[in-house]
Parts: sequence; structure tokens; C-alpha cells
Amino acid sequence: MHDIKPNAPAVLFLCLGNICRSPLAEGAARVAFAAAGIDATLDSAGTGDWHVGHAPDRRAQAEARRRGADISDLRARQLAQDDFYRFDLILAADVVNLREARALAPPDATARIRLMLDLVPGRQGGSVTDPYYGDAGGFAATWDDVSAVAAALVAATSSG
Ligand code: 4NP
Repeated sequence: MHDIKPNAPAVLFLCLGNICRSPLAEGAARVAFAAAGIDATLDSAGTGDWHVGHAPDRRAQAEARRRGADISDLRARQLAQDDFYRFDLILAADVVNLREARALAPPDATARIRLMLDLVPGRQGGSVTDPYYGDAGGFAATWDDVSAVAAALVAATSSG
């Protein structure tokens, strides 16, 4: 994909609270990039500030651990203006986060802003559903989605 640097891409995953979807996406991407031997700058943030400083939701941590990723060290933070320059790509979990990020983006932002699932064939325009108010099954579905995103990112990076 032309908007990802072939080496050492910098990708920010974005959701609402930064305690469920985007930390899971960061965890899946960490695992996928490490497995591919590609150096990447990976981070996550939320558009909201309710959970700033908090570790990922326990259910998210448990699902990540079950899939081989430790996300217990992550701490929620809110999307900041310098993110629009520091990252090549900002990937939003859903259309609300996407709209919010685009509204906050400075006119000279260098980051491209896309939906996470835009990278996944057949899922373009789709949203990663918020599992926060559901049961554990929702977190498994979220992991499936974000790991498909991570695999597509690695493939796009590897192919330059
Ligand atoms: P996330 O899920 O955006 O995937 O982190 C949420 C977590 C918390 C809230 C909303 C969504 N909340 O309203 O507190």
C-alpha cells in the first residue's frame, strides 16, 4: 500500500476509549510485525478521555493473552495533535472515530487517516464493533478483526 513506508512504518490505532479495540489492534500488530521481523512504530489512542492512564479492559487483556499477546503494559491516552505528524497512518476502528480524527486533523497533517478494516479485502468501509458493553465473545470477534488488519498491514509493508 503506497501510504505505508516499506520499512519501519509508524501506525496509530484509534478507537473511542483506548481500552478495548485499539489496544487489541496494537497488540495484534506487535505480534504480526515481530513475527515478520519488521521494525514498526506502533501505538494506540482514543478520541475520548474517560480512560486516560488506564490499562486495557481486563477482558481485552485476557483475550490478547489467550492469542499470544501481552497488552498489560499499555496505558490509555487521548489522540493528540502531534499524532497527525508522527504517524504515517492512523487507523480508526469505526466510522465515528474516523470522522472525529478527520475533524481534528490539522490542514497540514502528514498522516493518512483510514478505517482499520479498509485494509482487509472484502471488509472495506466496515467498522470493528465496540465490545465494551457486550460479553467475552465480543472480544474474541474483535481480536479476529484486528488480527486480520495486522496481517494486512504486514503484507502491505512487506510488499512496499
Ligand atoms: P474502545 O471501547 O473504544 O474499544 O476502547 C470503549 C471503552 C470505553 C467506553 C467506550 C468504548 N466508554 O464509554 O467508557
